[in-house]
Amino acid sequence: MQDLEALVAKAIAEFGSTADAAELERIKAGYLGKSGSLTEALKGLGKLPPEERKEAGGRINGAKNRIEEALVARRAALANASLEARLAEEAIDVTLPGRGRSRGGIHPVMRTWQRIESIFASIGFDIADGPEIETDWNNFTALNNPENHPARSMQDTFYVDMKDASGLNLLLRTHTSPMQVRYARQHKPPIKVIAPGRTYRVDSDATHSPMFHQVEGLWIDEDISFADLKGVYTDFLKRFFESDDLQVRFRPSFFPFTEPSAEIDMMFTAGPNKGRWLEISGAGQVHPVVIRNYGLDPERHVGFAFGSGLERLTMLRYGIDDLRLFFDGDLRFLKQFA
Ligand code: FA5
Ligand code: MG
Repeated sequence: MQDLEALVAKAIAEFGSTADAAELERIKAGYLGKSGSLTEALKGLGKLPPEERKEAGGRINGAKNRIEEALVARRAALANASLEARLAEEAIDVTLPGRGRSRGGIHPVMRTWQRIESIFASIGFDIADGPEIETDWNNFTALNNPENHPARSMQDTFYVDMKDASGLNLLLRTHTSPMQVRYARQHKPPIKVIAPGRTYRVDSDATHSPMFHQVEGLWIDEDISFADLKGVYTDFLKRFFESDDLQVRFRPSFFPFTEPSAEIDMMFTAGPNKGRWLEISGAGQVHPVVIRNYGLDPERHVGFAFGSGLERLTMLRYGIDDLRLFFDGDLRFLKQFA
């Protein structure tokens, strides 16, 4: 029984010798477990003469308590140490300088897109979006551009080797004009909408790219005239270029889906680009055949449409002379607009 002091000392030393929580529990079992040495000593009490049992029991329990206390203290120390270690490992050095991620910018053509949306929204136009893979019917036929009509060759495109659910041929849309048909077949007049989006043609030079952007405009009601087109479009240009120093000209032209048709040209009357007429948009009064394809009565409903190139507008706004710069992804170019 005088071994008890030695046993307690040994237990405390062993607890202290491990830094591992699971190992600590295994050591504990050697003293306090079912067949641990303290447990065995308590079991041995029964063999002692009755007069010695009380005193021996007290000493064994005292030893047991001291071992338990040492165990609890060691557990707490280990838990604390592991927390400290984690804190040290996950520490953030708030004094490190930042990595200085630079600010991104909106692509100049997207900026034009956003500006167009906000200008037309402010005068009551709805904004619509539609598919870039379009049916031959919406892109050409419904727009009074029948199969084999020579006007189709003005807009050569990329054909898709598949048909839609109702068996119609598919292609990459050559303009946003099919959105006139889609929108008008789903809404009742008055119709007042713009539809910006991506368009595709077999085109490639400094002012034409195979993928480009247009915005379609359509206003249909019972009394909309060419004068409204002139007013709306001229006002749009002045707001877009934030300038009154510009002239707008409607030059007679041909589109199968408008009659009369016009190319809209503009000229700055001040600034570095002044004095040169530049084509920016096709436009016209919607052809009666197209009004009928909208599902409306051309005797009752009239209006105008226009389709403008977003790259062209962006080039004019910023004085850029090669549209391929928009698609090269050269940061030296793009950063100028950020
Ligand atoms: C059209 O696409 C007609 N849908 C416009 C229209 C709509 C007329 C509604 C009447 C009523 P056009 O092919 O001219 O027309 O194209 C219109 C504008 O798109 C051009 O003025 C030009 O700014 C731009 N554009 C055409 N092709 C390209 C191209 N390959 N790359 C960049 N911009 C282009
Ligand atoms: Mg044109």
